[in-house]
Amino acid sequence: MMLAAACAALGAGCRESVLKDGRTRLEFWVTPARVDTAVVRLQTLLAPIDGAELSRSPEDPGWQTAMREFHQPVEVAGRIRVRPPWHAPAGDAIDVVVDPAMAFGTGQHDTTRGCLELLLAVPPGPLVDIGCGSGVLAIAAVKLGFAPVWAWDFDPLAVAATIDNARANGVALTVGPRDALHARLPPAEVVMANLTATILTTLVPRIAECPPRAAILSGMRREEIDAVCRAWESTGLMPAERRVGPEWGSVLLTRP
Ligand SMILES: C[S@@+](CC[C@H](N)C(=O)[O-])C[C@H]1O[C@@H](n2cnc3c(N)ncnc32)[C@H](O)[C@@H]1O
Repeated sequence: MMLAAACAALGAGCRESVLKDGRTRLEFWVTPARVDTAVVRLQTLLAPIDGAELSRSPEDPGWQTAMREFHQPVEVAGRIRVRPPWHAPAGDAIDVVVDPAMAFGTGQHDTTRGCLELLLAVPPGPLVDIGCGSGVLAIAAVKLGFAPVWAWDFDPLAVAATIDNARANGVALTVGPRDALHARLPPAEVVMANLTATILTTLVPRIAECPPRAAILSGMRREEIDAVCRAWESTGLMPAERRVGPEWGSVLLTRP
């Protein structure tokens, strides 16, 4: 998932699928002008991963159409609809428009959807979205009444994407180019973090400095959820609700 996040910020559409033999395939549609940069970045990211392979398909004049067909609007619990800009708003659900060619977070991924579903169960208040990617969670939070909302990411391309997407949605966010492992967190009552199990666990001392009343954690493989929840117990937060898919899990932690 972090690979998809890193590459999405290159201006690539990304699709993840699990092959019959259990390996994960990531497909990227990359703007022709950025293909060489994307290949170099992927080679660097893949180098430490055992058995990872990179193959490049010839330039496909239909890549934009393929990407547009792949990125369809996503509805979450009938309350939030995340759509790419080329789809019109529809229905009564909260409308969140996200440009999928900019950064991770289009609502297609189980982890993003899990976070949005759990967010619906949390009373509004000040919130920080750690690892905001496209800004999708932070933007939805503002539209659900959370304020103020901080959106942090250490990837400058994700920060730029969040600012652009916030403008497109007409919402106010405090967007920060921050590495959450090294910065003091803002005084948020609610923390959202769709990262990885390792980063979530490493974050615990930062969270303990300024303990929130609730946290929504995602980006864990389903078998990693319990260990992450145990690591977060020292912040006083306990699991209250989970969304677990075939591969990924999201959890809401609250203060009992
Ligand atoms: C999986 S994406 C999640 C994007 C979006 N929040 C969502 O739920 O769809 C994770 C994001 O976290 C960012 N990230 C990873 N480690 C980080 C750190 N230590 N500090 C800040 N951002 C981080 C990545 O750059 C990436 O944009």
